[in-house]
Amino acid sequence: MEILKPKTIFEPFRIKVMEPLPITTASERHRALQKAYYNLFTLPAHQVTFDLLTDSGTSAMSAAQWAGMMIGDESYAGAKSYFRFSEVVNDITGHPHIIPTHQGRSAEALLTQAFLKPGQIVLGNTHFDTTRANIESHGGIAVDLPDPATQNSALEEPFKGNIDLQALQKNIAEKQSQIAFVIMTVTNNSVGGQPVSMKNLQQTRELLLQHNIPLFIDAARFAENAFFIKCREKGYGDKNIKAIAQEMFSLSDGVLMSAKKDAFGNTGGFLALRDEGLAQEIRSLMVITEGFPTYGGLTGRDMEAIAVGLEEILDDHYLSYRIRSIQYFGEGIVHAGLSVVRPFGGHAVYIDAEKSLPHLKALQYPGQSLSIALYEYIGIRSVEVGSVMLGRRDWEKGEEHPAPKELVRLAIPRRVYTQSHIDYMIEVIGQIVPQLKNLPGYRIDYQAKFLRHFTARFSPIKSNKKQS
Ligand code: F0G
Repeated sequence: MEILKPKTIFEPFRIKVMEPLPITTASERHRALQKAYYNLFTLPAHQVTFDLLTDSGTSAMSAAQWAGMMIGDESYAGAKSYFRFSEVVNDITGHPHIIPTHQGRSAEALLTQAFLKPGQIVLGNTHFDTTRANIESHGGIAVDLPDPATQNSALEEPFKGNIDLQALQKNIAEKQSQIAFVIMTVTNNSVGGQPVSMKNLQQTRELLLQHNIPLFIDAARFAENAFFIKCREKGYGDKNIKAIAQEMFSLSDGVLMSAKKDAFGNTGGFLALRDEGLAQEIRSLMVITEGFPTYGGLTGRDMEAIAVGLEEILDDHYLSYRIRSIQYFGEGIVHAGLSVVRPFGGHAVYIDAEKSLPHLKALQYPGQSLSIALYEYIGIRSVEVGSVMLGRRDWEKGEEHPAPKELVRLAIPRRVYTQSHIDYMIEVIGQIVPQLKNLPGYRIDYQAKFLRHFTARFSPIKSNKKQS
């Protein structure tokens, strides 16, 4: 029989509960933007048609997850749901001490509070913004050591999420006594959702063991990373996703996870630790802010949903559809005429706004300008990952420093949008490309000291002349 090779990717699930999409007019969106001070985080969701702001907490839960929620045990201490949750997390991470937290950033806050002294350095393949904020707000110094391949967004390298091992070696040689620990973020969100190879994890681990430096993994998107390892790294093609994930985590001293991504949770997170002393310290700290150590700010039903989600994410059919559908979206956007980060990441397509809007300089915030246009013309909410999110203000000198890249992330919530949604977005993005050269730059009128992108206020700059 002839082997069929269809091009269409079908979603490996059917829809049981539906939610209508908000449909808005151009003038409604224009007014909404003005009211939101041109900050898409400030927009009410009911005015957004395609919400690609984040893949975090926005997954469609499965029937099995909802069923799990019905049997959630809401006991204050030692709930059955905690043990179910712990068992699944322990099975995947291999770590014995499991601490639920209300989301990823609270795992970061607890780890930094317990394990980081002011003035100490935390190295990483690129810290996510909340990780950086937690390190800095506890008096630490967050240093990013991304793979040099990330400097070229057009370069097709299989593991652009890697840490730069030479830079790691150099940092250890120069500052070993100041280094508290290293965090590897898989996939590496801030450089485009790019994966980290097993080899890079192994080499990092070896180097750190020689110098007695602990390694933690930020596992928000661990299954997508494991799938890339399966597809791209020699020796892993025949392994199942769970075995690959277990091998990744075996190289760490602990795992921090936001369960809002690859656990299909609408909320939640955890710490999984090898060291009992550290776990004890964190458990005694967390009762003040998070809750008792067997619920950590989560309900029993949240822990049930996460436990089921962690098992569901390990499915090859789901992951293959997920990665392929992101590629399909990316290929469509390239065809529509925009520059994107290559190769396509695991959870999002990242548009290179510097290349797509060459008439704007970094401090005219081309990523912000493009993301505003995607909303204003199409009703898509995306997020700027450029000089607004990752740039720095020197408060003493009153100077702004740009980020190395100006990107716009179109993150795809898990199991939410269908191929026709994606086809529609590709089509209309193509229709607005000719108008991009006229988009204005923006200025920041207000900003907070930490995580400024959430609350900053902007206004369009009338003249588009590049400032020299
Ligand atoms: N680590 C990574 C790699 C993340 O992407 C996030 C969140 C966190 C930690 C923090 O987790 O939100 O549960 O507190 N990323 C979201 C995003 C917000 O849109 O990429 P959280």
